[in-house]
Amino acid sequence: MSQTATARGEQWNSTGATAEAAPEPCVFVLFGASGDLARRKLLPALFQLYQRGLLPESFALVGASLSPLGREGFQASIRSSLEQSLGEQDGTAWQAFARRLDYVAMDLSRAEDYTRLGERLSQVDREWGTRGNRLFYLSVAPKLFGPVVDHLGAAGLARARSGSWVRIIVEKPFGTDLSSARQLNARLHRHFDESSIYRMDHYLGKEMVQNLLVLRFANGLFEPLWNRQHIDHVQITNAEALGMEGRGGSYEQSGAVRDMIQGHVFQVLSLLAMEPPQDLSPESVRSAKVEALQTARAFSPERIRTECVRGQYGPGQSGGSLVPGYRQERGVAADSGVETYALLTMRFDSMRWAGVPFYVRSGKRLKERVTEVVVRFKPGPFHFPGLDGQEQTEGNRLVIRIQPEEGLALRINTKVPGRGLRMREVDLSFLYAQGFGERLPEAYEPLLLEGLLGNSTLYTRRDMVERSWELVMPVLEAWGATKAEPNYAAGTWGPAEARSLLESQGRAWNRE
Ligand code: BG6
Repeated sequence: MSQTATARGEQWNSTGATAEAAPEPCVFVLFGASGDLARRKLLPALFQLYQRGLLPESFALVGASLSPLGREGFQASIRSSLEQSLGEQDGTAWQAFARRLDYVAMDLSRAEDYTRLGERLSQVDREWGTRGNRLFYLSVAPKLFGPVVDHLGAAGLARARSGSWVRIIVEKPFGTDLSSARQLNARLHRHFDESSIYRMDHYLGKEMVQNLLVLRFANGLFEPLWNRQHIDHVQITNAEALGMEGRGGSYEQSGAVRDMIQGHVFQVLSLLAMEPPQDLSPESVRSAKVEALQTARAFSPERIRTECVRGQYGPGQSGGSLVPGYRQERGVAADSGVETYALLTMRFDSMRWAGVPFYVRSGKRLKERVTEVVVRFKPGPFHFPGLDGQEQTEGNRLVIRIQPEEGLALRINTKVPGRGLRMREVDLSFLYAQGFGERLPEAYEPLLLEGLLGNSTLYTRRDMVERSWELVMPVLEAWGATKAEPNYAAGTWGPAEARSLLESQGRAWNRE
């Protein structure tokens, strides 16, 4: 297979936005500007967009958080975080970017502080010609989402002036269960229209996740085969090699289902399972995704018992060293029952997917960091008489590697050279890095750009977030009633039950 990508259809991408579109003038208001996410991901992504000429000329950023930084202190702290992620920064690009950075020290729970913020934003509008267009970004502790939204509303900052726009991006986690997600949606809707609410899921910014639409619907090879007639089952593996990295305290409130499956993994799942959208508008694409989840079968107690597996890592080996178990991590209770691994068998009651299981698994401290989808096709219908059947019963496999080393591999049966007819599986493979020869942007770059452009395709709609919670609730409730026990060693592929579950159905994980 050729490793060189052609640039056909350059104007067209999965978001429906053209590559050339430029955002309108605006102020980006970053709540939680001195926090970890802002420093590690958001500000470097914005700076990269700026360097690539993708931000408007009239662009300014106002950081807002409790730290008494002052404008210069804020600029210096951003510069040092950019240096950590992107290397030394003292060029003209940095100077020009730094001029656009302002800071307001404020207590996010105090109404008066929002009046001050509003005054500063008006000043910035005058100084930078940002025309009253505002993008608020909530990169704060989840307990502050609701209060910040209410305060913005009360201070009149959620309403756009005529001819301007106001948008709000809400970081994850969006609720901790169905009822808290509904409450947060209701609170947001008191002040903002759905069309101006952008719920963040950074997996939607990953190139290979965006590519799923193109892969499925722009390839005559795959589109006709993408159904129960030809697909035996699908696997989604989301594996991390790292453990808690100091986040044990907050992970105690979540676990693998809340942290990864309900959001990131279901985004991938819905793109794999959905029907073709009518067009590439945000509403059509997002409707097709949520409609797919509407057909997902609910988890009965029986299904939870026989088709789901949870796990928690004990001590083990990772990256060549001994690492502690989950219960020994900082901030974690010594008898914690939180799952660090989850396998859910998803089934769709639809014409397309009847009888095709989608095995989704996600875990911490697994053998390696890899997120991939494996589509396992049914084996060919015919056995050559006289051949050992074992070799030819392998169905073809399409492996979609989301990270790292983004790419595709199509595993097919081929004849081993020499006399006779022996077969072996070989890969037709494509690696993004080789095919396109350029750096793939970090997920936050395309996401922030789309938010600035007002394209919400890559953001989660209200019905999707609520449906995702609805699906996992029975699992959370059943698992919450008892404790997960350590049942896999760090640095392995997870609990033995996850392997035997597939084995009992005559299947095997692509990696184990
Ligand atoms: C976050 C989770 O949303 O995603 C983390 O809270 C997880 O626990 C991270 O490590 C994984 O993101 P990525 O892009 O590294 O796969």
